[in-house]
Amino acid sequence: MKIFHTIKELRETLQPLRTQTIALVPTMGNLHNGHLDLVKKARANADIVVVSIFINPTQFGVGEDFDTYPRTLDADVEKLTSVNADYVFAPSVEEMYPILPTNVQVLSGDISKILCAKTRPTHFDGVGLVVSKLFNIVQPNIAIFGKKDYQQLAIIRQLVAELNFPIEIIGAEIVRADDGLALSSRNQYLTETERKHAPLLQKTLQNLANELKTANFADFDNIIAKTIDNLNSTNIDNVRFKVDYLEVFNQNLQPPKADDKGLVILTACYLGDKTRLLDNLEFTRN
Ligand code: PAF
Repeated sequence: MKIFHTIKELRETLQPLRTQTIALVPTMGNLHNGHLDLVKKARANADIVVVSIFINPTQFGVGEDFDTYPRTLDADVEKLTSVNADYVFAPSVEEMYPILPTNVQVLSGDISKILCAKTRPTHFDGVGLVVSKLFNIVQPNIAIFGKKDYQQLAIIRQLVAELNFPIEIIGAEIVRADDGLALSSRNQYLTETERKHAPLLQKTLQNLANELKTANFADFDNIIAKTIDNLNSTNIDNVRFKVDYLEVFNQNLQPPKADDKGLVILTACYLGDKTRLLDNLEFTRN
C-alpha cells in the first residue's frame, strides 16, 4: 500500500489506472471497524481502493474538537494494510486548502440546515466542500459513506446529482459494538461509566420505532416528545443524556407525511460533558 501526501503524486499514480474501477473511501482517520467495513465494501466493488485521511478544518465550528481530534496516521495505515487498501491519500491542510477561508461554497439546500446543522451551522458547508474536492482530485467511479452519518450521506447524494459527478454513492449500514452502540471515533471520549450506559440510545430508538410502526400519524409528535423527555430525565450512575435533536423524517430526509412508509429516526444526544453521539434507525410503517 502506498501513501501520498500531495494531489500531484496521487493523480499521476491514478492516471494510467483509469480503465479500472476506482473506489474512494473518505475518512478523517482514527479508524475503527466501521471504517474498515467501508473499505471492505470498496474492495468488493472496485479494482483500486483509495482511502483519504484528512481532518478537514472547514467542517469544524469554533470551539469544536478540531485541535484535539485524534491523529493516528501510523495505526490507520497498519489497519488499512490489513484490509488491502491500495492507496492512502493523507494531505496537509495547506495542500487541500491553499486559500482559507475559501472563496467557494457548494451547498445551499434545506437539507444542510436541519438536524445537525442547527447546532453546527457551518458543518455541512465544510463537508460538501471537502468531499467535492476529494471527488475532483481522485475522480473515483464509486464512493462509500456510512449510514451513521445519515444526513451527510443524503447531502452527498444531492451534491453528486446536482453537480453531475459521475460517481456511484454507496451507503453502508451502521457497524455497532456487541451491545448496540454505533461505532464512532468520538466514543473514545466517553468515560467507562458513560460507555456502559451509551447503548441506551440505540435501545430508545428501537423502542420508538416499534411504537411508531403502528401509531397514528397524528400521535407522532407526542410520542417523540415523550421519548425526548424520558432520555433527558435519565440519570443512571450519574450519567445524563441530553438530547440535541431526535426527529423523524422520510428516508429522503423530507418531513414525513401520513402515507409515508419508509421512515428514519435521527438523533444526536450528549452523553456526559464531552461526547455527542449520533445514531439513527430506518423503519417501515405497517
Ligand atoms: O464522515 C467523515 O468522516 C467526514 O465528514 C468526511 C466525509 C471524511 C469529510 O471530511
